[in-house]
Amino acid sequence: MTVSPPLVDVEPLPVEDKRHEPFLVLGVETSCDETAAAVVANGVAVLSSVVSSQVDLHARFGGVVPEIASRAHVELLTPVMAEAMVEAGIEGGADAVAATVGPGLVGALLVGVSAAKALSIVWGVPFVGVNHLEAHLYAAFLEEPDLKPPLVALIVSGGHTLLVEMRDHGRYVQLGSTVDDAAGEAFDKVARFLGLGYPGGPAIEVAAADGDPEAVRFPRAMLDDRFDFSFSGLKTAVINHVRKHPDASTADIAASFQAAVVDVLVTKALRAAVEVGAELVCLGGGVAANGHLRTALAEACEDRGLRAVLPSRAMCTDNAAMVAAAGWWRLRAEGPTPLDVGVYPTLRLPVG
Ligand code: KG4
Ligand code: ZN
Repeated sequence: MTVSPPLVDVEPLPVEDKRHEPFLVLGVETSCDETAAAVVANGVAVLSSVVSSQVDLHARFGGVVPEIASRAHVELLTPVMAEAMVEAGIEGGADAVAATVGPGLVGALLVGVSAAKALSIVWGVPFVGVNHLEAHLYAAFLEEPDLKPPLVALIVSGGHTLLVEMRDHGRYVQLGSTVDDAAGEAFDKVARFLGLGYPGGPAIEVAAADGDPEAVRFPRAMLDDRFDFSFSGLKTAVINHVRKHPDASTADIAASFQAAVVDVLVTKALRAAVEVGAELVCLGGGVAANGHLRTALAEACEDRGLRAVLPSRAMCTDNAAMVAAAGWWRLRAEGPTPLDVGVYPTLRLPVG
């Protein structure tokens, strides 16, 4: 994010002085195909969380169409924000407005960021730009308000697969990431190949429920390497297997594929926690909604005497409550984001 002088003067925020009363952040999320708004008090208490999914608009294309996503955000965002405010019981404005500035689709991001800046001007409250990846990590803090770093976080979404050591709020060390496809991308591509539809993750999970996870031993790429991931070879292995065995059960293939992804994710997350000496392992991102991953991580952590923090499924997939939570922490740490900040489609997690 660039830092430059604000175009509009916003009073510095007396966040510390307001500790005794709820500080309400309106979060706005439009980085991909969910139009979302939420109100979160003091970074941890979700007063409302409204998500309008565009899945139906994109399903027939088998993936998100950026221009359709932007136009849908324009139509949906105002009613979604209004609903979030009404559900939270707020009549005036919130105390700050946070919006995802990246990574994501440029047009989609611009819709949410522009609306959030406009509201911050109208209400005379700070605007805060939020990194979507950091927001996924902060979903864990909504689950467990007393959570304290250091911890290891596994962020697995449609666009990213990240293993991160969180040393403190805003202080991250990236331990590993994918060298090719993201975990969610692999779910989506394999689901499309198997004819299971879009989005692929939930479709694979449903199909896998009736299958045998040991039916096919798909490769666990880079399992012995340290913390990076690779899922592209696994996708190819699934395609090759199905072409060779056209009568193979789709349920068995889905279950065996899911088992391979989960095996690698859990093995590396546990290895990371042990190596950095973290006692907490947090999950985040859409793939973290996967029941098999959640169970496997929880069991592996229990075996090792570690604690797994699993945000509710609704807080794993894209939502604005996680944006409001991350925004609250950023505001405390850095103050408001200048209003001339742009959007950053390839924004990375700030490390160091
Ligand atoms: O975090 P998210 O909602 O959006 C991004 O930031 O990308 O993640 C979306 C991804 C998609 O690839 C979707 O297929 C995957 O999360 N996903 C799942 C499940 N639910 C969503 N993957 C596996 N199992 C699920 N239940
Ligand atoms: Zn996401």
